[in-house]
Amino acid sequence: MMVDLVPVNEDVLEDLLTLAVAEAQPGEVMPPASGESPGEPRTTWTELRKGAFREYHRRCRVNPHAFVPEVTWAVKARGRIVGAARLALVDGDPEVREVGLWLGESYRGQGISSEVAYWAVAAAQTMDAKRLVARTLVGSAVARRSLERIGFEVADRDGGLVGTLTLP
Ligand SMILES: CC(C)(COP(=O)(O)OP(=O)(O)OC[C@H]1O[C@@H](n2cnc3c(N)ncnc32)[C@H](O)[C@@H]1OP(=O)(O)O)[C@@H](O)C(=O)NCCC(=O)NCCS
Repeated sequence: MMVDLVPVNEDVLEDLLTLAVAEAQPGEVMPPASGESPGEPRTTWTELRKGAFREYHRRCRVNPHAFVPEVTWAVKARGRIVGAARLALVDGDPEVREVGLWLGESYRGQGISSEVAYWAVAAAQTMDAKRLVARTLVGSAVARRSLERIGFEVADRDGGLVGTLTLP
């Protein structure tokens, strides 16, 4: 399936939030909101979390006037917004980028993660990164399989997964 990565402008942001609320959990799609701890299970949507989702994506927009350590894109397939991907600096190390991806439940299991992986590798290479890392908080079998298929070396850590991929 052909996928596009598109900037998260305000219109796209509302479509993305609608999808996230209908077909994903806050813990899968965004960092903890202010006052929430990283280990807290985040399974339900609240107004606070919806606001934090918007602010998170606004913070992650490419800005020609300021350095942005993490950038997000919406993933589009068959003309619809189906999820979001991100690339982030890790501990300020220019050789590493953390990659993240979530899809709405009805778009999972259709091979979209492999398509997004091509884009993530290319984007990280243009940023002169040497390695990609991916982390999940829970040890999902689909996340493990999808990372392994892309070529990540996957290890269990703190109940979740850590994947590492050396870029060609
Ligand atoms: C993880 C996620 C991004 C994977 O994307 P996806 O496009 O659904 O993944 P794919 O369709 O490429 O499937 C990946 C593999 O998992 C396999 N798989 C699907 N359902 C499975 C299941 N229930 N158990 C085990 N493997 C499963 C697929 O068969 C495929 O393996 P294959 O290549 O050997 O056929 C997506 O499921 C998601 O958004 N999950 C919630 C957010 C998340 O956990 N993100 C962390 C990603 S690092």
